[in-house]
This record gives sequence, structure tokens and C-alpha cells, in this order.
Amino acid sequence: ESLSNPVQELAVSGEDPPEKYVYKGEHGAIDASFLVMEIPLIDMSLLTSSSAAGDEELQKLRSALASCGCFQGINHGLTSSFLDKVHEVAKQFFALPIEEKQIYSRTVEDIEGYGNDSVLSEHQTLDWTDRLYLTLSLMNELLLKAMARSLNIEEHSFFEAVRRERGTMTARFNLYPPCPRPDLILGVKPHADGSAVTFLLQDREVEGLQIMKDGQWYRVPIVPHALLINVGDQAEIMSNGEFKSPLHRVVTNSERERITLAVFCIPESGIEIGPVEELISENRPKLYKNMKNFVDIYFQNYQQGKRPIDAAKI
Ligand code: SIN
Ligand code: FE2
Repeated sequence: ESLSNPVQELAVSGEDPPEKYVYKGEHGAIDASFLVMEIPLIDMSLLTSSSAAGDEELQKLRSALASCGCFQGINHGLTSSFLDKVHEVAKQFFALPIEEKQIYSRTVEDIEGYGNDSVLSEHQTLDWTDRLYLTLSLMNELLLKAMARSLNIEEHSFFEAVRRERGTMTARFNLYPPCPRPDLILGVKPHADGSAVTFLLQDREVEGLQIMKDGQWYRVPIVPHALLINVGDQAEIMSNGEFKSPLHRVVTNSERERITLAVFCIPESGIEIGPVEELISENRPKLYKNMKNFVDIYFQNYQQGKRPIDAAKI
């Protein structure tokens, strides 16, 4: 197990990318999608309000998470200048000389540090991206409670599994250098997240994220200073399939680098997660098993090219 050379170095070398980056899951070239996903905007400041507008926003949240599995969150409480600063600092970090960044190198076991797609098997296709991981202790209580309230269930139902002492928030800064072969190479292979929920601060100008819906890839448009928030497998499991963890991928482009920040909200692995009792009924049987260590199961399956959530299905 090891990490490979920074993709950034490959990008400036002017040489053809090594074969191990060529994505083989697609027949023929990777198609640039012309379809743009219509992603609902949710005013997050309304999610805690007990008013008609608050109830309406909760219904919007519920239908967004049940259909496309994601939404663009606005009025989330983080100022635009703070988000610009986060982006700027990430850009400055990735622009440091390689030797300086390597002081922060992570090994496959580390949860923090600089590196890229972990090489877990010899046959793995590598993603065209470099990464910086940090852990955060902040939790998005508001969202997880609103998700439960939108389903008319006890508001701690989802939050309990990930509250501060129990879960982690891992921040991952992603750098996607320009790639000479966007027709053959992906920034991130198709996957659904193993988190409960994921918050994504997109690049301010460069698109790349795509979400699968009805068998087609859709581009995710940039909404400046919004956070793209998506359901992860663990929220799909806990919601007994009410919420959908969307399949997504990142395409590359040959012109411009792209920098994003993904924050994964993950229940502690020792905790058993499973469908909330209130969401199981005669009409809606239990669809997923209760399980511990979902993240380990996730990576084992992901590595074998399987969809991890299938391992949880009854
Ligand atoms: C990911 O889903 O792993 C990253 C998404 C992005 O950088 O747009
Ligand atoms: Fe993802």
C-alpha cells in the first residue's frame, strides 16, 4: 500500500499520463455531458424555523434528498468572504513547491495529510487528483435534525449517530490539475459517498462534478458560495431508502485546474447503524441490515469495483 507521485507533477511534465490513470469502466471515450442537473436550492436558515416558510423548506429538503439525493445549500451561515478565503488558502497550499508539501505527506493509514488516491491494489485505476486531508470537530447538527424532521420522525434519529463525540468530520481539499486526456481519465471514478452527508464547496469557476440520474450523467452547475450537500450511503441506510445516496464522478479538462473542498460527516465506525425504526412498516419493509464498521465495508467493496451499499441490502 502506498501513494503515488503527485498528479500535479504529471500534469506539468507534458508527457502522456501513465496507463494506470486510464479509466476502463467506460466503453470508448468519457463523454462530456451536455445535460445540466436541476438541483434544488434550499435556504438553510429556514430549516430551523417553525413557520409556514420553514415547513415548506423542510418539504423541499425531503423531496430533494429523495429524488436527486442532493441540494445547493444557501444561507448556510458561512460568509462568502470566509469561503473565498478557504478556497484561496487551498490554492496557496497546492501551489507550494512539492518538497514543502511533502512535509505534510500522509501514509495510507493516516487520516490527515497531503497525498492522493491511495493505491490499494495493483489493478486499480488512479484518479487524476491530489488531496489534503484534515479532520474537523464541527458537526452539522442543523442539517441532520432537519432531515429527520422532514420525515416526521424524532429529530435526533440521524444526528445521534454522528454527534460530536461519536462521529468525525473529515475535510478533504482536492486539486484536479489540467489533464491532457479528459477523454480517457477521470478526476474521481464513479462512486457514492460512504458518509452520512457530504458538504462540497465547489471551485468558483471550473465545473467537473457530474451526478448520475436515470442512467445519464448530469453536470452539477456552480452556484457561487452555495454548498452542494449530498446524501451518503449511511443516511440512505438510516432513512431506510427514503433518501438516495447519488452516484457521482469528476471529469477532467485540459485547460484549467480545479480546487474543491469536500467535508464528509461520518458516524463513528464502532456504532451500529441501520434503518430508523419509525421508518420501517408493513408498507415499507426494512431494506438494509444493521451494521457496524460501515466505512471498512465501504472501502473493501469500493476497491473491488462494487457498489458498497449493495452489501447492506437485505
Ligand atoms: C468527490 O466526490 O470525491 C469529489 C467531488 C468534487 O471534487 O467535485
Ligand atoms: Fe464523492
